[in-house]
Amino acid sequence: MNHFLSSVLLAAAALVAAPCLAQLPMSQPAGPQQSGQIGAVAPAANGPIRAPDEGTIQSQNIFEVQPDASSEPGYREQTNGQRARVQPGNNAPMWRQVAAGATGYSSLPPSQAPEAGNLIQGFVDYPFMRETNAGEAWRQVRNRWILPYGAALLGIVVLALALFFVAKGPLGHRHPESQRKFERFTPFERAAHWSNAFAFVVLAVSGLVMAFGKFFLLPVLGLTITGWLAYALKYVHNFMGPLFAVSLALIVVIFIKDNIATLADFRWLTRLGGLLGDEQVPSHRFNAGEKGLFWWGITLPGIVVVGSGLVLDKLIPGVGELRGQMQLAHMLHASLALWMVALIIGHIYMGTIGMRGAYRAMKTGYVTEGWAMEHHRLWAEDIRAGRIPAQRSSEVPPAPERPTAPLQA
Ligand code: HEM
Repeated sequence: MNHFLSSVLLAAAALVAAPCLAQLPMSQPAGPQQSGQIGAVAPAANGPIRAPDEGTIQSQNIFEVQPDASSEPGYREQTNGQRARVQPGNNAPMWRQVAAGATGYSSLPPSQAPEAGNLIQGFVDYPFMRETNAGEAWRQVRNRWILPYGAALLGIVVLALALFFVAKGPLGHRHPESQRKFERFTPFERAAHWSNAFAFVVLAVSGLVMAFGKFFLLPVLGLTITGWLAYALKYVHNFMGPLFAVSLALIVVIFIKDNIATLADFRWLTRLGGLLGDEQVPSHRFNAGEKGLFWWGITLPGIVVVGSGLVLDKLIPGVGELRGQMQLAHMLHASLALWMVALIIGHIYMGTIGMRGAYRAMKTGYVTEGWAMEHHRLWAEDIRAGRIPAQRSSEVPPAPERPTAPLQA
């Protein structure tokens, strides 16, 4: 990714550098003085060009222009008013203050526009970064940290899962449908899960297009289509956010009691759930991997991503009026959303092709007794012992299929 990104950035840098180079005196396009106007003379290689009779500066590298007034003592410390007296029209003192984050006068009431008089935010000192104004610092955090490292994380996760699938294939065994069925997820739990899954996937796709669309869509679809797509997806993102907030709260409440850590989970973690051995380590309804995802991949980052998303959506009164608040909300939102997407990709892998029989658990709500014993033995034993009901909802469980007669040789 870094190579790709650096090449894209390099290309972008080249595109940006080109017009800057054009500003250099040697590439100055034909100006009035080339057009034979009175007083115009041919530009010299370097140094100020002076018209023979007027003694004022005609053209020079702007950064080297030193107005006569600059020889005045305290020139750089002059206020704008003082500068206007010695060099009318030169507002450099005012712009220097603006760039330093000074707040000037504004007739807009602070209640409506709390930052009206402040054009550029004050300086901030973020770790691993040169001191700069808050706006520039946010831009650098987004473009130099969140996007490149976020994309790298997603790339590594997808690559690792692909290699794992090639090496190990789907985990678990097939279990005959004739076995007794255990209800793993009630209809209500499944509805909550899938509406949450739908909202999350829409948010993830629209968010990834807003963040990375210019790298992978723009070269293919061009400016107009990419622009319209990103614009439309931004609205989809803004409307889907609140739905995700509700469904996320719902699945946290529904599943929290079965995601509390137990002693069995520490045993599971020490043997990575059986990945280091031949058989799975016994676990309750959810194993330590699922519980880890529940807390570190869904609940905790989800609260911050939803909260910061609502700030960015300007849905929390009084929060998000200041640029600093929006910048902080964006940095938290983007970085933790990329973290969630990376972990949920792993969850989707395990919930579809990564483990036999897992998908049907959330699709039909039922698993065979064999599947439960293989993957969640302590949960299955609790059901067998009657400590947990095999059927929790009033839904009619699917009848065990009659065993198919073994094929005659
Ligand atoms: C297309 C996307 C998804 C698929 C295919 C999928 C699939 C599954 C499957 C098969 C299970 C059952 C696992 C088991 O029996 O232990 C499950 C459980 C679960 N899923 Fe998903 N899921 C998806 C998206 C999501 C998203 C976006 C979230 C949250 C942001 C989520 C949160 C959960 C939770 C909380 C559980 C219960 C397990 C636990 O609490 O640890 N899922 N999912």
